[in-house]
Amino acid sequence: MKNIKDLIRWTPDLSVGIGDIDTQHREFISILQKLAENIGKNENQRIEDTIDFLEKYAEVHFNLEQMYMTVFSYPDSIEHINAHKEFKKEITNLRKKADKKQLKIEDVNKKLKSYFFGHIKTIDMELASFLIKKIKI
Ligand SMILES: [Fe+2]
Ligand SMILES: [Fe+2]
Repeated sequence: MKNIKDLIRWTPDLSVGIGDIDTQHREFISILQKLAENIGKNENQRIEDTIDFLEKYAEVHFNLEQMYMTVFSYPDSIEHINAHKEFKKEITNLRKKADKKQLKIEDVNKKLKSYFFGHIKTIDMELASFLIKKIKI
């Protein structure tokens, strides 16, 4: 099996071009890596702790993006905020699986990663290009 850090890693195509959003996306990916590593080692308490942190960090990150949307009157904010809500549900699903000791690396690798990367590459990218136009007048 490939190393977790090769499977879940930041690549330049994930850059949206807004510094603080990119920094948080990178941090988010490193939390996903930690989660996958802890699952690999069967460290149940650490798995729980990492999911707690992931949940809190997601809140911080979504609040940052939502702050930008509010400040710059982003026209597609409702759609984007709904996507964040869906993402939070995905984290809750991970927690439920972890509680039942059924959480697998594939759950993080496939579902959460693809959901997260898909989000960055589509709607976060759209938000960022809107912001870049607004900020760099
Ligand atoms: Fe977002
Ligand atoms: Fe984001």
